[in-house]
Amino acid sequence: MADNILDRFKDGSDEEKVIDTTKKIKVGIIGTGWIAEAHVANYLRCPDVEIVAAAELIPGKAEKFCKVNGIDGIRLYPDHKAMIDAEELDAVSVCTYNRTHAECTIYALEHGVNVLLEKPMCVTLEEAVAICRAEKKSGKILSIGFQPRFDENMKMVKKIVESGELGDIYYIQTGGGRRRGIPTPYGTSFIEDKTAGIGALADIGCYSLDMVLNAVGYPKPLTVSGYTSAFFGKDPVTFPGHPEYADVFGVDDFAAAFVRLEGGIILDFRISWAMNLDTPGDTIILGTKAGLRIPSTECWNGSIGGPLKIYRTIAGSDVETVVPERSNKEDNFYSKIRLFVDAVKEGGCAPVPSSQIIYNQAIIDGISRSAKCGREVTVEIPEI
Ligand SMILES: NC(=O)c1ccc[n+]([C@@H]2O[C@H](COP(=O)([O-])OP(=O)(O)OC[C@H]3O[C@@H](n4cnc5c(N)ncnc54)[C@H](O)[C@@H]3O)[C@@H](O)[C@H]2O)c1
Repeated sequence: MADNILDRFKDGSDEEKVIDTTKKIKVGIIGTGWIAEAHVANYLRCPDVEIVAAAELIPGKAEKFCKVNGIDGIRLYPDHKAMIDAEELDAVSVCTYNRTHAECTIYALEHGVNVLLEKPMCVTLEEAVAICRAEKKSGKILSIGFQPRFDENMKMVKKIVESGELGDIYYIQTGGGRRRGIPTPYGTSFIEDKTAGIGALADIGCYSLDMVLNAVGYPKPLTVSGYTSAFFGKDPVTFPGHPEYADVFGVDDFAAAFVRLEGGIILDFRISWAMNLDTPGDTIILGTKAGLRIPSTECWNGSIGGPLKIYRTIAGSDVETVVPERSNKEDNFYSKIRLFVDAVKEGGCAPVPSSQIIYNQAIIDGISRSAKCGREVTVEIPEI
């Protein structure tokens, strides 16, 4: 049987955009840690961007960072406020740990500066609401750093759902994660409550949620029954060479939830930084006409563990359609930066808007609250 349903997902023309270098935007970096390197490397690829300043709480860290990353000589500040007060910036990248996402973003927006905010959006729903209100008041662009969105296979997932081939979506299973992979490459900022606030649930869980919620049009979450645990993070054996990390481990290393979304969709979610299993399963999207399987691997880079598969029954026969894997024309991190810069220059829409990601944060917040109180909670999002 000819698999002509694949014709429905063909690309249109992909014209390369000419960058107008007569207008350059001035950018400041807040937080000079691990992810800031990717921001700097990709801003440096934009001929219409000047990185003019950076802010960092830890004395001496920004100096070393700038030398290594090819931006030696820019102006440096001890925190985000000092930089935003002193500079005439068009935009900042908020590359700080989760706990300071909200305060840095709100301060920048209140001072008329556009923001590219790293994921997860923040720690609590309350913070997300405050961020969205500051954004609305400022009229500036706020985009959240979900680079997998720009991956060709992730775009295909959305195209397939939007094509209507799956029919009405009623059940989604998503998540993923690692057997052992608690991120401590440069210290403990991902695992301490005072810096990270949430663990695997927000760090990689936010990507799994975004993959499916973006595909189905970001329906509003209504109720959440969630669970979190930290059996591995609290065990010194998990950190060879750094058993003391277990003492400061203050977040989750595994989370699971059952979420009801508007439109009658059920979301079944689980995510892991560490567990006694290779994978907690593929992502599946079940519709009334067909089902889609997304073999999941790493959550953060948009990669998939094999080709997407569509399952249908035609004239009584079970049919499976393999969607060939697609390669990216551009690096996802570059697309994240480039599309943000374009939006700032052209006054367009944010590439990854807060109006969607607030629902992602609301689910994460609901899982944390439900896990604490041990029962289902309702999700209420105040008017922005
Ligand atoms: N998009 C991705 O693929 C990706 C990958 C890694 C990390 N991240 C996200 O990026 C964020 C940072 O992660 P990281 O690994 O770079 O963390 P990190 O701890 O290595 O760096 C964060 C830095 O921010 C600084 N900082 C905190 N508050 C500040 C403030 N108010 N002013 C100035 N500096 C401040 C800290 O001192 C620290 O040096 C996290 O939220 C993480 O989830 C995203």
